Amino acid sequence: MPSFTALLADEAATLALGQALARILQPGLVIHLHGELGAGKTCLTRALLHAAGYSGRVKSPTYTLMEPYTITLEGQSIALMHFDLYRMGDPHEFIEAGFRDQLDGSAICVIEWPEQAGDLLPTPDLDLFLTVTGHSREVELLAKSEQGMACLHQLQFNPHQ
Ligand SMILES: Nc1ncnc2c1ncn2[C@@H]1O[C@H](COP(=O)(O)OP(=O)(O)O)[C@@H](O)[C@H]1O
Ligand SMILES: [Mg+2]
Repeated sequence: MPSFTALLADEAATLALGQALARILQPGLVIHLHGELGAGKTCLTRALLHAAGYSGRVKSPTYTLMEPYTITLEGQSIALMHFDLYRMGDPHEFIEAGFRDQLDGSAICVIEWPEQAGDLLPTPDLDLFLTVTGHSREVELLAKSEQGMACLHQLQFNPHQ
């Protein structure tokens, strides 16, 4: 499966990656964000949402576990669900909260701490890993489906721009 790696030297580079990801979004795309607390998952999602046309405040869904947004994709309104499952006590909460219904093939889902849902989550289209290295971050993006591969092929990202 194709992959992409880059060094994100500072927060601006993480924001630029979020903007680049916003340009490859497709309906139904599911992206899992991995990385320790403070790695930049929310920061990246915020930049992605703003680049995708959401102009309001993007807060971390730490306590609500999910925050719904509407973005515009090629002139069409589309739902984007931002999950943060860090505080989910039990994987079955994911089912009980009705979250699995959001993975309906039309909404875009960006999921922080997908590990917390155990194996209740299907394989994503893209798996994104952020690793803290000193004052910077390293990112690795892996395509896990045909759709993920198609998106990854379109990604244009130069962290030094
Ligand atoms: N590439 C980077 N290099 C250094 N610091 C970064 C980089 N990207 C983001 N940051 C900083 O790391 C923190 C990330 O916080 P946040 O996005 O809330 O992390 P997470 O959601 O992964 O817990 C912020 O303080 C942000 O300024
Ligand atoms: Mg976060």
